[in-house]
Amino acid sequence: MQILRSIFALSLLGALQGLPAVLAQEFGGLPPGEGRMEVFAWCSSCHSARIIIQQGLTREDWDETLVWMVEEQDMQEPDPVMRKKILNYLAEQFPPERPHFIGDTGIKPDLNKRMEHN
Ligand code: HEC
Repeated sequence: MQILRSIFALSLLGALQGLPAVLAQEFGGLPPGEGRMEVFAWCSSCHSARIIIQQGLTREDWDETLVWMVEEQDMQEPDPVMRKKILNYLAEQFPPERPHFIGDTGIKPDLNKRMEHN
């Protein structure tokens, strides 16, 4: 019995180690960080999170993107606390100078899009 239990424990461990990758996909490929859940909830109802992941913008440009989403794309305006959380996450995770974000997700950055913004 003891040995069966260890085998069970080991396979459970294996399953848990696979978890981060699974979760990453569940958040549409958004990298871990404070505010990820909020961004996923707020931003992926109209389009995939990949449209965000492929971007590299300054905080100001992310700010403008939020304004643009609200004014032109009918996004619901987040309250100030939520807005700050979202903006912090976006500015921190997807700044212009970040390395091409491919490794974890297999997502290819859209180079033409990036050049428009740089
Ligand atoms: C109500 C729907 C809606 C929501 C919610 C929404 N978007 Fe969008 N978003 C759009 C549409 C529609 C487009 C395509 C606009 C276009 O290209 O004309 C778009 C495009 C974009 C783009 C692409 C810009 C580019 O240069 O190609 C980015 C980045 C983006 N959204 C970020 C966000 C972020 C960040 C959030 C959450 C804070 C968000 N969106 C929430 C509708 C939405």
